[in-house]
Amino acid sequence: MSASHNPSADRSAAPQPAGADQALETFKATLSDPFTNNVINAMSPETPERARVVLTSLIRHLHSFARDVQLLSPEWMLGVNTLNRAGQMSDDKRNEGVLVSDVLGLEALVDQITQESMSKMTVDALKPATLSCILGPFFREDAPKYENGADIVQKHGEDDPTTFMDGHIYDLAGNPVEGAEIDLWHTNPNGLYEQQDPDQPEYNNRGKFFTDKNGYYSLKCLCPTSYPIPYDGPAGDMLKLMGRHPMRPAHIHIMVRKAGYAPLTTQIYDSRDPYTLDDSVFAVKDSLVVHFVDSKRDDVKYELTYDIHLSQAHNE
Ligand code: BEZ
Ligand code: FE
Repeated sequence: MSASHNPSADRSAAPQPAGADQALETFKATLSDPFTNNVINAMSPETPERARVVLTSLIRHLHSFARDVQLLSPEWMLGVNTLNRAGQMSDDKRNEGVLVSDVLGLEALVDQITQESMSKMTVDALKPATLSCILGPFFREDAPKYENGADIVQKHGEDDPTTFMDGHIYDLAGNPVEGAEIDLWHTNPNGLYEQQDPDQPEYNNRGKFFTDKNGYYSLKCLCPTSYPIPYDGPAGDMLKLMGRHPMRPAHIHIMVRKAGYAPLTTQIYDSRDPYTLDDSVFAVKDSLVVHFVDSKRDDVKYELTYDIHLSQAHNE
């Protein structure tokens, strides 16, 4: 959620939207409202502390929201039906709850908050850790494991933007991290992940690799393509209502795991893609924008070298 890669983030520095003063007054009034406090105080003393904090704030903000917009019964029912429809559309191939959350900027905001809380714990690091990014709804466990150098594309098309990708994984002192698992996934050039597309083999464009003693990994993949998030459900209805497009900039998802290090979930973005400046889910961060270059190799069209810096685990 950087300012330069996110027009909406820029807008947050601009004057508050109309009604912000009123919203603030409504929220302040809700803090001492007897009905709202009655609902909060109905919570059991046995409720675990974190759940109490989260639910208390959720109730306050929901009540304040309803009062602020003077929510009417049919509108409340529309909201309930939207949530229900999102649940009914979701299965192991589609997660409409995540999509709704994403178009409202919530997953990107939660990622930002999580990252800030992690970086407070690594103040004396020599190098900054690679920034995290949203997971999105298309991650799959159990991607195939490959030897370094292998191709994650199981079914190639004639004009595929074939790519050689490599890099090192380091700790924040610059030491190589051996045996780190790096899991990558991206869409096909048609903009679909394999679970969305009956014409792709299972786990196409997904693979796990392990760094060698120098922290080095390498693989073949595709230069990614921009694609629309699924917009035939509640998330799409919201986008249309707000006059927004569904496009995400071309990206590769990356997840890195190694015992003793904080797990990293991130995405890297192709610098040539104009949607890096206008992502429908507000997830792009400047340092995650990378430059694919034309390759001199005879087996691929593009090359990308991408190093990753992991912070120590904080709970070990
Ligand atoms: C993705 O990056 O795969 C994604 C993220 C948010 C919504 C839809 C897709
Ligand atoms: Fe994606």
